[in-house]
Amino acid sequence: MSIKLKIDGHDLIAQEGETILTVAKRAGIEIPTLCHHEELKPFSSCFICVVEVEGMKRLLPSCSTVAADGMIISTNSERVRCSRKVCVELLLSDHVGDCRGPCQVNCPAGIDIPGFISLLARKNEEDAIRLIKDALPFPASLGRICPRPCEQQCKRICTDEAVSICFLKRYIADVDLKRSEPYVPSTGGSTGKKVAVVGAGPAGLTAAFYLRKCGHDVVVFDNHAEPGGMLRYGIPAYRLPRDILAKEIDIIRKMGVSIQCKKSLGRNFTLKSLADEYDAVFLAIGAQQASDMRVEGEKEGGTIPGIAFLDDVACGKKVWIGDDVVIVGGGNTAIDAARTSLRLGAKKVTILYRRTRKEMPANDFEIEAALHEGVKMEFLAAPVGLARTADGIKLTCLRMELGAPDASGRRSPVSIKGSEFILKPSAVISAIGQSVDTACMDFEDNHLKLTKWNTLNVNPDTFETSQKGIFAGGDCSSGADIAVTAIASGRKAATAIDQYLKDEKVTGEGKHYLHLMSEKSEDVPEEVLQMLREKADAKQIMPELDPSMRKKNFEEVETGFTYEQAAREAERCLSCGCRSYSSCTLHELAVKYEANPERLAGKKRSFFIDESHPQIRYEGHKCIMCGSCIRICSEVKGLDALGFIGRGFSATVGPMMEKPWAKSTCDGCLKCVPLCPTGAISLKVTAAEESIARMQKGLDASKVILEDKREESKKGELGHVKNV
Ligand SMILES: Cc1cc2nc3c(=O)[nH]c(=O)nc-3n(C[C@H](O)[C@H](O)[C@H](O)COP(=O)(O)OP(=O)(O)OC[C@H]3O[C@@H](n4cnc5c(N)ncnc54)[C@H](O)[C@@H]3O)c2cc1C
Ligand code: SF4
Ligand code: SF4
Ligand code: SF4
Ligand code: FES
Repeated sequence: MSIKLKIDGHDLIAQEGETILTVAKRAGIEIPTLCHHEELKPFSSCFICVVEVEGMKRLLPSCSTVAADGMIISTNSERVRCSRKVCVELLLSDHVGDCRGPCQVNCPAGIDIPGFISLLARKNEEDAIRLIKDALPFPASLGRICPRPCEQQCKRICTDEAVSICFLKRYIADVDLKRSEPYVPSTGGSTGKKVAVVGAGPAGLTAAFYLRKCGHDVVVFDNHAEPGGMLRYGIPAYRLPRDILAKEIDIIRKMGVSIQCKKSLGRNFTLKSLADEYDAVFLAIGAQQASDMRVEGEKEGGTIPGIAFLDDVACGKKVWIGDDVVIVGGGNTAIDAARTSLRLGAKKVTILYRRTRKEMPANDFEIEAALHEGVKMEFLAAPVGLARTADGIKLTCLRMELGAPDASGRRSPVSIKGSEFILKPSAVISAIGQSVDTACMDFEDNHLKLTKWNTLNVNPDTFETSQKGIFAGGDCSSGADIAVTAIASGRKAATAIDQYLKDEKVTGEGKHYLHLMSEKSEDVPEEVLQMLREKADAKQIMPELDPSMRKKNFEEVETGFTYEQAAREAERCLSCGCRSYSSCTLHELAVKYEANPERLAGKKRSFFIDESHPQIRYEGHKCIMCGSCIRICSEVKGLDALGFIGRGFSATVGPMMEKPWAKSTCDGCLKCVPLCPTGAISLKVTAAEESIARMQKGLDASKVILEDKREESKKGELGHVKNV
């Protein structure tokens, strides 16, 4: 007798004894599962497959509920989705694992750091540069100037020093640039679509790189004589040599991007004319306007804006600053202006900053380098008046103290009454901030919305402005920030622009759920800390020119790792992150149901790793006790190699009598590996193998690796296999 039922409004027929899941699947209705597998008897431990059956109070697991005549079933109602979300959050509440290395999570561009370091450790620099360039096109430049947010989260800092990620990236990129034919990504067939990019800084050039990779025709316009933005005209050559930046830009040209310099938005063309001629426009004009110090007499006194000063020096113009230079500000521009002043021959260079060194926004290693070269720092001091007298400049300053924290979270400087003091420098350089020059954009025609900070108002996921077809990113939308953030926004905007040009829904790169073992290093499990202590190893020191020599010229200060140093430093990386990231169903469901792992978070599972098996790694802290591995082994293979061991948060899976996995009756068929819905059972692959597979096959990386390993296993190349 055939059974008639309705699922999500579809009239369906089921055979006697069939489950709701089987009937739904046959009809193409997707129901997520975790503990269920077609080869196995239903187990019903995870409840992720629940559905709503009319007339039933409780939701029912579709994998084990037999279809009955007249059933009316909803597989995706609000109640079902809420229940699934809670299930996922419960599974994540005690989960211990890093989906991706914490370094990668903290990199604004999300570079596959463990992957490229693992490739470097295996002397595979060619794939390493490809992997890096999947995330950004300026590794040689960034490898020199990035403030390294990734290193601030490196797992090693719990017990040791961070891996020198940035210098390793620079090493790989330098090796590539020294080749007769550096890596140039392929650009695919032409789509016939044209995109105009305004601004040839890191954001604009990055967008051009990825748009061209998608096959679009790209023209980049810039008002300077050379491309590069602040990397060319702000950051001095002793930190980022011009030829290095030029070589990275050349690769973008080789891909077919046209870069047209001395072309200015607002003078040579308007936003409207670009929108009329091109299929899409990306604005990346940076924050190139120096902010005023708002000090009495500033204009008449003749202060030099820091970015204009650095721009002039970069253009080779003669700039007179005299012997005794005062720089006002505490950011990168202030430090660069100070070190440049020394190189121009100033005998005394003083940075005046109104807070303390702790609050300085400049990179700590830059501050350190400036101090080594002899720059003086006058903290808790601010100018209040400037006058040009017959004797020269008279800069009136006040001493400050720190008061309550302001909106930025930093303690506000408060002036101390009667603390006035006078400085008589030969020049004053102001470096207190930058803003976006919005005057060049014809808002009246196009109604581009601005934020209250006078930056372009964009959708943070898609970088769309308020005007259809016009996107914006980098400093002009974020406000003055750092290069890697501008680069990341250029790549993400390119993805959104590509979607727009293909008439797809514009969603951008999308959000990734990333489970982390701990947000703070003090919450890292003791077993991991112990492992880190055992692996303690001092980091390699970047060789650099002697301060007494380097301050006389614009030669690059940091001279780069040798091969031996790079290889040794790469060995320090622990390849953090989960090798099952691309196949983890728990992760996939966390994204789908927008799970919040913190909502139900409580006691965590015990940290436990068994690596005794030659092909398989078992990580008990990622196990959700679904039993699939145990059941496939006993029900399908008839081997009983595995069982549940212990209870509660320290329960694990393994051979009886708590023997290691290597001592089980396992025959190496690897059937349990793809069945495990998390990364608890994974193949022993390196981060390099995983990254190469992902570059070649996208998200099917785990399947590709598994097939390869199965082949090796069949040929008996893995040693342990008895009878596959
Ligand atoms: C002195 C200094 C030091 C810095 N040091 C560091 C550092 O060590 N590490 C770090 O990560 N970041 C540093 N930064 C910040 C970093 O350089 C910027 O965040 C980054 O360059 C922003 O990139 P962008 O592409 O958004 O803009 P920009 O680099 O500013 O590029 C914008 C481009 O648009 C062009 N443009 C502007 N208006 C027009 C127009 N109307 N028509 C045509 N073209 C136009 C400009 O000429 C420029 O080429 C520093 C910045 C400065 C100023
Ligand atoms: S098992 Fe899944 S959720 Fe857990 S760390 Fe690995 S990828 Fe992330
Ligand atoms: S040890 Fe390696 S993978 Fe782990 S956080 Fe540090 S750099 Fe990243
Ligand atoms: S190890 Fe076994 S019990 Fe644990 S999650 Fe994986 S398949 Fe399930
Ligand atoms: S209860 Fe059905 S898949 Fe787990």
